[in-house]
Amino acid sequence: MSKTLMAAAPGTQTDFLPLEGTDYVEFYVGNAKQAAHFYKTAFGFQSLAYAGPETGVKDRASYAIRQNKLTFVLTTPLRANNPMADHIYKHGDGVKVLALRVPDATQAWKETTSRGGKSYMEPTRLKDDQGEVVLSGIHTYGDTIHLFVERKNYKGAFMPGFTEWKTVYNPTSTGLQYVDHCVGNVGWGQMNKWVGFYEEVLGFRNILSFDDKDISTEYSALMSKVMSNGNGFVKFPINEPAEGRKKSQVEEYLDFYDGEGCQHVALATNNIIETVTTLRDRGVEFLKVPTSYYDEVLDRVGHIDEDLAPLRELGILIDRDDEGYLLQIFTRPVEDRPTLFFEIIQRKGAKSFGKGNFKALFEAIEREQELRGNL
Ligand code: FE2
Repeated sequence: MSKTLMAAAPGTQTDFLPLEGTDYVEFYVGNAKQAAHFYKTAFGFQSLAYAGPETGVKDRASYAIRQNKLTFVLTTPLRANNPMADHIYKHGDGVKVLALRVPDATQAWKETTSRGGKSYMEPTRLKDDQGEVVLSGIHTYGDTIHLFVERKNYKGAFMPGFTEWKTVYNPTSTGLQYVDHCVGNVGWGQMNKWVGFYEEVLGFRNILSFDDKDISTEYSALMSKVMSNGNGFVKFPINEPAEGRKKSQVEEYLDFYDGEGCQHVALATNNIIETVTTLRDRGVEFLKVPTSYYDEVLDRVGHIDEDLAPLRELGILIDRDDEGYLLQIFTRPVEDRPTLFFEIIQRKGAKSFGKGNFKALFEAIEREQELRGNL
């Protein structure tokens, strides 16, 4: 038995860490001004807020951008010899903060650190004339951080320290709605340690597991366990490389990120055909599976509402579980290192992660690894 689908967690009665969802994702990047422009232009985000020397923040520039319930923050250091610059030197552009919205950031910090979480930031009150935000944080895998964000008493654009960022250039939305899940790649033999961390420190549950028999092509073996909080609003699959004939895609990531980190962020849409058409037309590059994938896909997944032709043309993948089906596609890495990428996902009942697509998908990844000379 290689797959286990467990019942959703019962009510939040014993949930010591109630989460209201993903608050934002912060990326450390080499050039935040240009990264913000890229995510606005290519992915359809809007200007939201800015922090930097002009707002009294001397060591960095941060651009907050938003699309529906999705908020990204692009941050760059202004000088060398600080932890942000070191982070970028080591990892390249990547996810630094997976920020989680909580009703009480002080309590979240106390609950998690008392259970063994390593503090990154003690509860900190930030105030301006729009109100108050309380932040606290703990370390997770690699150099990645979970910040707890309490913003119920704040009315401003983003948070104190930021000023509202208004621009003439405001490209239209691509229909992206919210963070569906964020995947972490961890080192050899480290998956169960991090599964235990999410269970013990954050009160998550392991809702789905895949072993290397599920997720193994000729080369690209990996293992994965999906961790979910009590209400299911926050899901963190954890991947570990497995022994295969050649180098696992997770191992390639670990080599080029120089350690553990966020592999992909899945962004939900209500209309994947429209969203992916727009993303493609604006220059987002996607992994392609062979068109033969579509010859028999409906035999596997049964009836779907969408026409197959646009799915085939765009390279959108389809999978089904007991509760419905899902449509998904993966971008190529969004930086020159083969590290972070994005998934675009539309769920039509399915709560799973596209296991039926792993083989076709990983073969597509291997073709790209081969081109990079990393297989
Ligand atoms: Fe995913």
